[in-house]
Amino acid sequence: MQKRVLSGIQPSGELTLGNYLGALRRWVSMQDKNESYFCIVDLHAITEPQDPQDLRRRTRDIAALYLAAGLDSAKSIIFVQSHVRAHSELGWILNCMTPMGWLERMTQFKDKVAKGSAERVSVGLFDYPVLMAADILLYQAHLVPVGDDQRQHVEFTRDVALRFNHRFGDTFTIPEPLIGDTGARIMSLSDPTKKMSKSDEDPSGTIALLDPPELVRRKIMRAKTDSGTEPRFDDERPGITNLLEIFSALTGKSRAETEAHFAGRGYGDVKRELADATITALEPLQREHQRYTDDPAELDRELRKGCERASVVAEQTLRDVQEKVGLR
Ligand code: TRP
Repeated sequence: MQKRVLSGIQPSGELTLGNYLGALRRWVSMQDKNESYFCIVDLHAITEPQDPQDLRRRTRDIAALYLAAGLDSAKSIIFVQSHVRAHSELGWILNCMTPMGWLERMTQFKDKVAKGSAERVSVGLFDYPVLMAADILLYQAHLVPVGDDQRQHVEFTRDVALRFNHRFGDTFTIPEPLIGDTGARIMSLSDPTKKMSKSDEDPSGTIALLDPPELVRRKIMRAKTDSGTEPRFDDERPGITNLLEIFSALTGKSRAETEAHFAGRGYGDVKRELADATITALEPLQREHQRYTDDPAELDRELRKGCERASVVAEQTLRDVQEKVGLR
C-alpha cells in the first residue's frame, strides 16, 4: 500500500545546502513510492517577524528550488500552505482541543523564548505546533520526514490526533516521524558544533543554494577547521569532520572511501575539492531556479495546480472534522 508523506520548510531564510542534503534530496527519493505532499509553510514563517517583500520572494524561491531539486508535480503535490485555507481553519479547531500544558512543554518554543524577550514572542509562535499538526492531519499523512529537532512536534501531532479520535471517533491517521540519518547532519562552516541553519545570522557559516559559485568557494575555503592535518572523521575534530561529511553526502562516497580519497593529503585539498563538488551540485539547481525566475507564470501555474489538488484532500478532512465537532 502507498503511504502518504507530508513535509514542509519555512520561508524564514534562504535555503541552505543542509536543507538540500537533509531534506529535499530525501524527499525526491520518496516521491516515486508514496503519495507525497510538500509545502512551503509561510504561515509558520510569520510566527516570527518577516519583511513582507522578503517573505514573498523567498516563498517563490523555495517553490522554484523544490522543483529544481527534482520534486515533480506529476508525482507530488507541491503547494504553499497559506493558499489552502483549511490549514488555518483546522488549526483553530485543534487549538480549542489542545491543553496549554502540552504547548508549554515544547522545547523549541522554550529555547526561542530563552533567546528573545517575552515581549517579542508572539502567541503564534507558542501555538506553532498546533498549526503543524493541522498541516499533517489534514492530509492523513502516515510519514513525516523531518530532522531530529522536529521529532517532538510530530509526537505532539500524534497526541492531538489520538485525543481527537478518542473523543469524536476515528478521524485522523496517526503519523510517524521519519528522522533522517543523523550521521548526515550538515553543520555550520563557522561553528561546526551547530547545525547549518537558514536562520543563522552569520552568513559565513551557511551555503545558500543560490549563492554564486565564487561565494561558495570563498565560504568553504574559510571554513573553520581544527588543529591537526590528516583529513579524518573524528568527533574531536568537528570542523574537518563536517567538511568530509558534506563531501561524502555530495559524492555518494562512504566515510571510508572519503578518507581513502584524501589519504596523505591536507585540509586545503579537502576544501578545494569540496568547493568544486558543491559548485557542481548547485549548478543545475541554480539553472532551473533561474528558469522559473524568468518565467514566473510557469511557477504560478505549478503552485495553482498544487493548491487545487491539496485543497480537495484538505477540504474533505476539514468537513469531516467540522461535522464531528458540531460546526455543520
Ligand atoms: N516545523 C517545521 C520546521 O521548522 C516546518 C513544518 C511546518 C513542517 N509544518 C510541517 C514539517 C509539517 C513537517 C510537516 O522544520
